[in-house]
Amino acid sequence: MLSIAGSLRQLGLSALAAAAALSSLASAAPSNIQVRSLEERAAAGNRLVFCHFMIGIVGDRGSASDYDSDMQRAKAAGIDAFALNIGTDSYTVTQLNYAYQSAANNGMKVFISFDFNWYNPSTDAARVGQLIAQYANQPAQLQVNGRVFASSFAGDGLDVNAVRSAAGTNVYFVPNFHPGQSSTSTIDGALNWMAWDSNGNNKAPTPGANVTVAMGDASYQSWLGSGKTYLAPISPWFSTHYGPEVSYSKNWVFPGGALLFNRWQQVIQQGFPMVEIITWNDYGESHYIGPLSSKHGDDGNSKWTNDMPHDGFLDLSTPFIAAYKNGDTNVANYVQTEKVVYWYRRNLKTLNCDATDTTAGHSAPNASGNYFEGIPNGWQTMDDNVYVVTLLKSPATLSVTSGGNSQSFNAPAGANIFTVPAGLGKQSFVVNRGGQNILSGTSLMDITNVCNCGIYNFNPYVGTLPAGFSDPLGPDGLSSLTSGLHVTTCQPKPSLGTNPSVPASPPANPTSSTPPASRTSSAAPSNPTNCVAGTVAPGESGNFAGLCSFSCNYGYCPPGPCVCTATGTVPQAPPSNGRNGCPLAGEPAAYSGLCSFSCNHGYCPEGACQYC
Ligand SMILES: *[C@@H]1O[C@H](CO)[C@@H](O)[C@H](O)[C@H]1NC(C)=O
Ligand SMILES: *[C@@H]1O[C@H](CO)[C@@H](O)[C@H](O)[C@H]1NC(C)=O
Repeated sequence: MLSIAGSLRQLGLSALAAAAALSSLASAAPSNIQVRSLEERAAAGNRLVFCHFMIGIVGDRGSASDYDSDMQRAKAAGIDAFALNIGTDSYTVTQLNYAYQSAANNGMKVFISFDFNWYNPSTDAARVGQLIAQYANQPAQLQVNGRVFASSFAGDGLDVNAVRSAAGTNVYFVPNFHPGQSSTSTIDGALNWMAWDSNGNNKAPTPGANVTVAMGDASYQSWLGSGKTYLAPISPWFSTHYGPEVSYSKNWVFPGGALLFNRWQQVIQQGFPMVEIITWNDYGESHYIGPLSSKHGDDGNSKWTNDMPHDGFLDLSTPFIAAYKNGDTNVANYVQTEKVVYWYRRNLKTLNCDATDTTAGHSAPNASGNYFEGIPNGWQTMDDNVYVVTLLKSPATLSVTSGGNSQSFNAPAGANIFTVPAGLGKQSFVVNRGGQNILSGTSLMDITNVCNCGIYNFNPYVGTLPAGFSDPLGPDGLSSLTSGLHVTTCQPKPSLGTNPSVPASPPANPTSSTPPASRTSSAAPSNPTNCVAGTVAPGESGNFAGLCSFSCNYGYCPPGPCVCTATGTVPQAPPSNGRNGCPLAGEPAAYSGLCSFSCNHGYCPEGACQYC
């Protein structure tokens, strides 16, 4: 959760236009199957889908329209309501006003989720109730069983009757209270926040201490009993790295990997009464499924979120949301658009970034077991895999190439997941049906052994086929990127897409075996000059893998970093873009020729080269 504190300004609520798009409340069905309407599900208090939205990170928004794209995108995916997480920042009420207004304008629902990192359960019951009252009659306020809905993060010990009394209404209250730490007598249900396997003490699990998400479900369900509503968590990921660059506040991961896919399968099988996706926009903890381009400030997260869109996580969730709402355990019925969603970390977990990630170069836990420097606690629980989910209407063949690793799979209809060991270099994906490539592409993000921005980054890159929309961080979201970094090669600007990836196969129209005319490198001429395939030379840095693979394809295969593996008729390289590439500062001179050639032909991997 965010650490942006401030004083609460009790603003009077300005009159909000009551322009609710009431007619659009029924969700768009993502398939031909009709999905049950929100009215029907909310009246029954069953099969509701929420997504946690951090108000604390969007203090830079200036109007209700700044929320419109979030509301529209979430609604289109089938999310019923945003849980608006609020602290006590000075802008909280202003932003709540905008959010409620935008939700009304876009046919979405919202409710407040009080963050008890900032509210005090012992003394703030009336304050909480009064804030609920301010929004209770807004058209966008979510009502369940005809009652105003509210939730929380933490808050055990809160006097719920005092909250209802101050709210002036019989609030349907589903806080993040914990089994055994509060009575269930005054609440309507409870939110379980722990969407990740843990050690039971807010760190990654170990074989000896492994509290799984399913164990959390069981614990909540048994505590709540049959009369109360269990609000179950779903999250794609967790990694955070507020190390020395960002006030030493937190630095750990929970195991991610196939989590989102597996959890959705579990959720549609279990059929919990309500679910909450954690989160839309908590970039700092890397569990966002909303866009990077959604307007927000930078609490330090840009160091690991820049160029790392997660929009495919929402695409993956969309058919599951529809199946869940209909009580259907077969997601295959809800695949409307054939798609591939893939994700992986940009480095392998063995990469050592200690030299530039810490001031002192040590990463040992202190007595409380917290690491505040260097590699995040729990890193060993991450697998070096490329995860690929196919959403298909009929069977096909999936082929994945991760650096030097290639595998093909039979992908059945419906939603299925495949993993391939992550390899340094380019990441390519092909779906073939009946001899035709129906989806294919190369990721904009290579896996490298460069510590981007000099830090450990365990946030995944998420891509899709067909490719999703361009989703760069905006200026506000990049404002503290360089603060505290120990390298100077990291720029506060998006760079995805400025390094266009290369065609999966060379153009089918080979020309002569002449070395590429536009080669301007200072490296020795390639030998042989009729090279058509190559890879990184034995003993050389894996960071050359993508560069060698690209350049050797087109006859330029400098010995030293690269080795040619096949010769033949050299295909024409992609056209020159008229620009020259240089190695990143600090990279060896052996990169000069490779960067020059590759960048000039449109492949300028950000971990190694830049345009100069
Ligand atoms: C925790 O248990 C789950 C379920 O059995 C298992 O998949 C996972 O690998 C375990 N994690 C650790 C760190 O042992
Ligand atoms: C561990 O380090 C953190 C951050 O510096 C500090 O707040 C905490 O008190 C330390 N714990 C112990 C037991 O030293």
